[in-house]
Amino acid sequence: MKNRSYLYSIITLSDKGYSGEREDKNHPLIRSLMQENGFDLFDYILIPDEKDYLIDAVNNLKDKCDVILTNGGTGLSPRDITPDVTLELIEKRLYGFESLIMRESLNETPFAALSRAVCGTIGKTIIINLPGSPDAVKSNLSTIIPILKHAIDKLQGDMSDCADIKK
Ligand code: MTE
Repeated sequence: MKNRSYLYSIITLSDKGYSGEREDKNHPLIRSLMQENGFDLFDYILIPDEKDYLIDAVNNLKDKCDVILTNGGTGLSPRDITPDVTLELIEKRLYGFESLIMRESLNETPFAALSRAVCGTIGKTIIINLPGSPDAVKSNLSTIIPILKHAIDKLQGDMSDCADIKK
């Protein structure tokens, strides 16, 4: 891992959060987990579950930060559009990230199967969909954080040998 800073942004999708009816409790949780693991916050954006808002937010953040963490809207409700829009935006899909997250989540609750969360790359940025529940945020992030910096390095052109990477 290079001696460099790693920047991330949070996009919370919540109709109720956006209208002020509900507090975004995941945002501080994500911040503390990421900070503990050496990631610096670049931006935090709260939007409704609307396609155009998400497209604009991602396009504004891509290539300015290393990771975009979306939060909420991954399930089956009529307004849940996060994975569908993410699929339209990404260039390389990170099936391994998705599988890793789902494997760990299913060990915790069968309800994890309701998440359609997508992970992928857009330019030099990795985008990860997190479900809206704080339990899911905590577990999904903890699962992915150990491999995240290495993935960013590789995406951004690190040609060093992976043989010595800790398994
Ligand atoms: N994953 C984990 N690890 N823990 C959870 O509690 N909740 C699930 C799932 N993934 C959950 C989880 C539930 S109940 C739903 S409905 C989906 O995430 C989608 O949530 P979202 O629509 O808020 O994104």
